[in-house]
Amino acid sequence: MTPNDFIPDQWYPILDSETLRRRRPVGVKRLGERLVLWRDSGGNAVCATDRCPHRGVQLSLGRVCDGQLECPYHGLRFNAGGECVMIPANGDDAPVPRGFDLISRVVREGHGLIWCWYGDPALATDAIPWFVEAPDPGPRTGWIADDYPVSYLRVMENFGDLHHVPFVHRATIPGAGTRAEVEEARLDGDVVRLKVTLRHQRPRRLKIAYSFATAIRLPALVSITFARRAHFVAAATPIDETHTWLWARYRQDYVPGWMGGRLIARLGARFDFRSVFSRQDMRMLASQQLDNSCDISHYHLLEADGAIALYFAIRKRAIEQAQSKAAAPSTLSAAH
Ligand code: FES
Ligand SMILES: [Fe+2]
Repeated sequence: MTPNDFIPDQWYPILDSETLRRRRPVGVKRLGERLVLWRDSGGNAVCATDRCPHRGVQLSLGRVCDGQLECPYHGLRFNAGGECVMIPANGDDAPVPRGFDLISRVVREGHGLIWCWYGDPALATDAIPWFVEAPDPGPRTGWIADDYPVSYLRVMENFGDLHHVPFVHRATIPGAGTRAEVEEARLDGDVVRLKVTLRHQRPRRLKIAYSFATAIRLPALVSITFARRAHFVAAATPIDETHTWLWARYRQDYVPGWMGGRLIARLGARFDFRSVFSRQDMRMLASQQLDNSCDISHYHLLEADGAIALYFAIRKRAIEQAQSKAAAPSTLSAAH
């Protein structure tokens, strides 16, 4: 396993595209590192380490001028490739030594998100991980994001488990049965698929059977469809080992956009995140006691936890594959 629990050689969503405007840089902490994002003169997202090579100031406090990032302290300027192109104290036209360049990150924009490649840049894939059924930005969608003080692995477990609903969410999602009938828990290529219906032990009128179709894929993405017309896609990107940036987009297929469908999706997102996840799930997640956040060997998983077991299995496989790729050049050189 990696020392920091993060899965290498993956595209991670790090910011919603709407948040990154033309004139202002945005600073975030993701995968244990402070990053600055801005848009170049063509509107393309750019990302680099959020630390000025001059004297360490956070560049995200600066501004964007003609697509270049300007440090707020002494005005050093950086182009979209991360190269320092101006040191005002030396004179605007003075040549700039190369030691002032930023460490750039490979980023891409897709599905309304900005994605950062975490791992060897030479291995960055063309495809961004997504789900065919996941909602893209549209008139019936709303998104929300917040930071949470737990490992992303606890969040992913929570998404892969629906049998907590009748207990943790009793007050906000009333009437869900406690018996989790697992119709499907399997690996479909790279995607973990789970279909669960929460049934009552003794069916009666006014007791609802809730059905969920969940898909999970690396590095930490989930798509859930419930009641067939409400869809949800979420990303649990690590901020660091013990904090997670949780982003989610909701789409509802009941009310069209022109009748306020976007507002309903936004309110749904807010309700689910703030009322359900923050107040109810987080109490459980923050109380989970693990010596090592990525070691779940002491869990006693149930059949209804099948998606959790599968997620940890594909995660382990991806980490081992990345480790063997990283080891390959040294093996070759040792052979010579
Ligand atoms: S610290 Fe950035 S220009 Fe001096
Ligand atoms: Fe929950």
